Amino acid sequence: MASAIFTLMFLATMMLLQLMAVAQTDGSKPVGASITANDDAPSWLSSSGEFAFGFRQMENKDYYLLSIWYEKIPEKTVVWYAMGEDPTDDPAVSRGSKVELTADSGLVLTDPEGNRIWSSGGFLGTVSSGVMNDTGNFVLQDRNSDRLWESFTHPTDTLLPTQIVEAAGIVSSRRTETNFSLGRFQLRFLDDGNLVLNAMNFPTKFAYDEYYTSGTSDDSNSSNSGYRLIFNESGYMYILRRNGQRSYLTEGTVPTDFYHRATLNFDGVFTQYFYPKASSGNRSWSSVWSKPDNICVDMRSGLGSGVCGYNSICDLKADKRPECNCPKGFSLLDQNDKYGSCIPDFELGCRSDGLNSTEDQYDFTELTNVDWPTSDYERYRPYEEDECRKSCLNDCLCSVAIFRDGCWKKKLPLSNGRVDIGMNGKAFLKFRKGSVPLDRPPLPLPGDNKKPDTKLITGSVVLGTSVFVNFVLVGAFCLTSSFIYRKKTEKTPEGGSCLETNLRYFSYKELAEATNDFKDELGRGGFGVVYKGTIQAGSTKVVAVKKLDRVVQDGEKAFKTEVQVIGQTHHKNLARLLGFCDEGQNRLLVYEFLSNGTLANFLFGSFRPSWKQRTQIAFGIARGLLYLHEECGTQIIHCDIKPQNILLDDYYNARISDFGLAKLLAMDQSKTQTAMRGTKGYISPEWFRNKPITVKVDVYSFGVILLEIICCRKSVDLEIGEAENPLLTDWAYDCYVNGTLDVLIGDDTEAMNDMSTLERLLKVGIWCIQEEPSLRPTMRKVTQMLEGVIEVPAAPNPCPYSTFSNYYQ
Ligand SMILES: *[C@@H]1O[C@H](CO)[C@@H](O)[C@H](O)[C@H]1NC(C)=O
Ligand SMILES: *[C@@H]1O[C@H](CO)[C@@H](O)[C@H](O)[C@H]1NC(C)=O
Ligand SMILES: *[C@@H]1O[C@H](CO)[C@@H](O)[C@H](O)[C@H]1NC(C)=O
Ligand SMILES: *[C@@H]1O[C@H](CO)[C@@H](O)[C@H](O)[C@H]1NC(C)=O
Ligand SMILES: *[C@@H]1O[C@H](CO)[C@@H](O)[C@H](O)[C@H]1NC(C)=O
Ligand SMILES: *[C@@H]1O[C@H](CO)[C@@H](O)[C@H](O)[C@H]1NC(C)=O
Ligand SMILES: *[C@@H]1O[C@H](CO)[C@@H](O)[C@H](O)[C@H]1NC(C)=O
Ligand SMILES: *[C@@H]1O[C@H](CO)[C@@H](O)[C@H](O)[C@H]1NC(C)=O
Repeated sequence: MASAIFTLMFLATMMLLQLMAVAQTDGSKPVGASITANDDAPSWLSSSGEFAFGFRQMENKDYYLLSIWYEKIPEKTVVWYAMGEDPTDDPAVSRGSKVELTADSGLVLTDPEGNRIWSSGGFLGTVSSGVMNDTGNFVLQDRNSDRLWESFTHPTDTLLPTQIVEAAGIVSSRRTETNFSLGRFQLRFLDDGNLVLNAMNFPTKFAYDEYYTSGTSDDSNSSNSGYRLIFNESGYMYILRRNGQRSYLTEGTVPTDFYHRATLNFDGVFTQYFYPKASSGNRSWSSVWSKPDNICVDMRSGLGSGVCGYNSICDLKADKRPECNCPKGFSLLDQNDKYGSCIPDFELGCRSDGLNSTEDQYDFTELTNVDWPTSDYERYRPYEEDECRKSCLNDCLCSVAIFRDGCWKKKLPLSNGRVDIGMNGKAFLKFRKGSVPLDRPPLPLPGDNKKPDTKLITGSVVLGTSVFVNFVLVGAFCLTSSFIYRKKTEKTPEGGSCLETNLRYFSYKELAEATNDFKDELGRGGFGVVYKGTIQAGSTKVVAVKKLDRVVQDGEKAFKTEVQVIGQTHHKNLARLLGFCDEGQNRLLVYEFLSNGTLANFLFGSFRPSWKQRTQIAFGIARGLLYLHEECGTQIIHCDIKPQNILLDDYYNARISDFGLAKLLAMDQSKTQTAMRGTKGYISPEWFRNKPITVKVDVYSFGVILLEIICCRKSVDLEIGEAENPLLTDWAYDCYVNGTLDVLIGDDTEAMNDMSTLERLLKVGIWCIQEEPSLRPTMRKVTQMLEGVIEVPAAPNPCPYSTFSNYYQ
C-alpha cells in the first residue's frame, strides 16, 4: 500500500518535472506561476535562453527591479522594466516582493505585505499563460493563443528588433543609468506623422520644444505622412509612411549576427546599439547611430534647463552623448547629480557699499565658445566690448554678457548652456571676487626641480662654428623630442575649459572636395602646406586644412594621440582644431579659418597697427601660452613661437597655431624642415647648450615677439635701415638702459602717450629674453606683469656673460 502511494507520488513528481521542463523550453508560464524577489530568485527564460523575465537585483542589494534583460551577455542589459503606478517613483521594489501571473489582471506585482504595486491589467479576456518570447517580448495570451498584453506595446526606454511604435506611442528615458524612475526625456510618435524627441517637466509632464524631428509629417498630403516606427528583424529602424515609403533612422548597414537595441538614454540621446552574439570579439555595446547629432546645440527650448541642469554647460563627447560641467564660480546643487543644476558660490549683487565699487567686488570669467542662448533679457547694439562688460558689471541682474553682434545680457538661472564651436562670440560670466580663487597654485613645471613624468632633453649639443649647423641641430631637437608632457592634473575649467575633445574625422576625399582639390593655398609652414576650404558643420564653415608632409611613419597611434591632445585645447587665444584625416600617408589637420592673417603680416606690413591693438595682441599671446604651459590637462611646449605662427581672428584676437605639432615629425626628414621654420631670432640660448629644454624656451620667444610688437620691427633686420642696430634684443636693452625709449618707438605718438605701459612691456620683454632660463619669469608671472597686477622689477642685462648675440650675425 505504502509502496503504491510512493510510486504514485513518484510518477506525479516525474510528470510535474516534465511539465516544468516543457514550460521552460517554450518560454511559457501558466497562470499561477510566480517569482519572489530574493537573492536566488529564478527567472523565466525565453525558449533559447536569450531573454529573461524576473527580478534584477539593484545596486542596493535589498531592492529588485521587475524587468526583462539579455540573459546571454555578461552585463545583462535591461530592455524593459515595470514602472510603478506613479512612474516618477523609483520602480525598484524591496526584497520579498512577488510577481504572479493571474487570470484576470495578468502580471501582478505586490510588496512583501501583499499590497499591489503594479499590474499589467488593461485588457479584455482571461489570461491562460505568459510567454517570454525569444524576441525579448513578454506576451500574455488567452486559451486560443490570442495576445492580450505585450511588453512590446508598453515600451520603457528601449526598443528591440521586431518591435513597432504606433502613432501616439511614447518611449521614455530613465532617470539615470542606474535609477529606473521616469526620466526627463521622451521619444514620441505624433499624430501628424513626426517622430520627435523632447524634454518634459515634472510633475505635469508638460513637453518642451522638440530637439529632434524626423520630418515625416506632410501637411499637404496626409496620405504620405509617417504612421509607424518599425525596428525590423535585421536591425534597421525606419518610419513607415502611409504610402509605403520608408524614412530610415538607421544609417549605413547594420552588422548581422549581433544583438540590436535602440535606447533613449537618460541624457536624452536616442541611440541604436549592437553587441556581438559570439563570445569572441569586442564584447561591449557599440553605437550604430544617434539622434540628435549634437544634443547640446540642438536643444534650445524657451522653457526648461536644457540637456543639463540650470547654469550648467553641456559639451558633446565623441560618442554623441553630452557631458555637463558647472562653470567657474558655480557648484553642483546635488553633488550626486552631475547632470543637474549648478548654483553660484556667491551672491549676485551690485550695490556699491560706498567703500567698494562694483568693479572691486565682481569680475568676469571669459569663456570661449560657450553660450546660453535662451536666457537673454537685454540687447544693446551698436555697443563696444568694453561698454558691454561695464554695463553687465554694474547691472545687479546681469549674470553673463555675450558679446556677439552687439551685447546680450543674460540673467539667472541660465538655461541651455552649451559649448558651441560655431558661436563666434565671447561670453563674460560674472563672479564675485574672493568667492573664487583668482589663481590656482602653480603647477610643477619641467625643469623646476620636481621631475614630472617626462623625457627631458639633456643630450649635449656640440656648438658648431656654423650657425646653420646649429639651427639644424635645434630643429632636430624639437622634432625628435617629446615636448608634450602629460601631467596628472585635474581638468581646469577656466577661461577656455579643458573639456573633452569633439574632433571630427574626415576622409581624404572629403578634404579634397572641401579644398577644391587643394587649390587655394593659404601658406607654407614647417609642416607642410595650408589650404583654404569649406566644410559643412551645421552651416557652411570656412576652414584651413594643413597637409602634413613629414609625419613620423610608424606613428599611427602617436598621431592620433597627439591630435587628441591638440583637440583637447580650448582657449580663445589658440587656433581651434576641428578635425583631422589619417588615411595611409595622408595626414591632415583641419583648423578653423582665421580671417585676418598672421601677426607677421600685421606687424611688419605697410601700416603700423594701433598701440592699443598691439598691446591687446601681446596680452592674448601671453594668455594662450600660459594656457598651453599650465592650464590644460596636458602641458604643451610650443617650441616654435614666432609671428608667422600667430594668427588673428575677426576681432584681432591673437590665436597661436602649430602648437603640439613638433612631436609628429620625423628626425631624418628634419633638415629641410628647420630651414623652413625660420626660427632664427626667436630661439633661446639653451638650445645651443647642454641644458634641458623647458617651457622657458617659449618664454624667450615670447619676449622677442613682445619687443617686436612694441617696436613694430623684426628682431633680426638687416635690410631696411636698421643696419646699425641689426639685433632688436640688444638695441632694446641699450635703449632701456640709456632711458631713450622714444628712440625705440620712433614716431609712435600713441605709445609715447602711454609711457607707463610702454615701459612695463619693455621690462617684461627684457626679463623674458634673459639668457639664463631660470631668470625668465613663468608665463603666469608674465601675464600678471603685463596686466599690471604685479610690479615689474628693473630688468637685468639679458646676456651678462656671453656673446650669445653673435649667433645671429
Ligand atoms: C514569438 O516571436 C515570434 C517572432 O516574432 C513569433 O512568430 C511568435 O508568434 C511569438 N510567440 C508568441 C507566443 O507571441
Ligand atoms: C531615483 O530617482 C528618484 C527621482 O529622482 C528618487 O526619488 C529616488 O530616490 C532615486 N533612487 C535612488 C535609488 O537613488
Ligand atoms: C498624395 O500622395 C499619394 C501617394 O503618394 C498620391 O497618390 C496622391 O496623388 C497625393 N495627393 C495629392 C493631393 O497630392
Ligand atoms: C530590414 O530592412 C532592411 C533595409 O530595408 C532590409 O534590407 C532587410 O531585408 C529588412 N529585414 C527584414 C527581416 O525584413
Ligand atoms: C570595444 O568597443 C568599445 C566601444 O566602441 C570601445 O570603447 C573599446 O575601446 C573597444 N575595445 C576594444 C578592445 O576594441
Ligand atoms: C571693501 O573694502 C574693504 C577695504 O578695502 C575690505 O576690507 C572689504 O572686504 C571690502 N568689502 C567687499 C564686500 O569687497
Ligand atoms: C579682419 O577681419 C574683419 C572681419 O572679418 C574684416 O572686416 C577685415 O577686413 C579684416 N582685415 C584684414 C586686414 O584682413
Ligand atoms: C646708449 O648710451 C651709450 C653711451 O652714452 C651710447 O654709446 C649708445 O649709443 C646708446 N645706445 C642707444 C641705443 O641709444
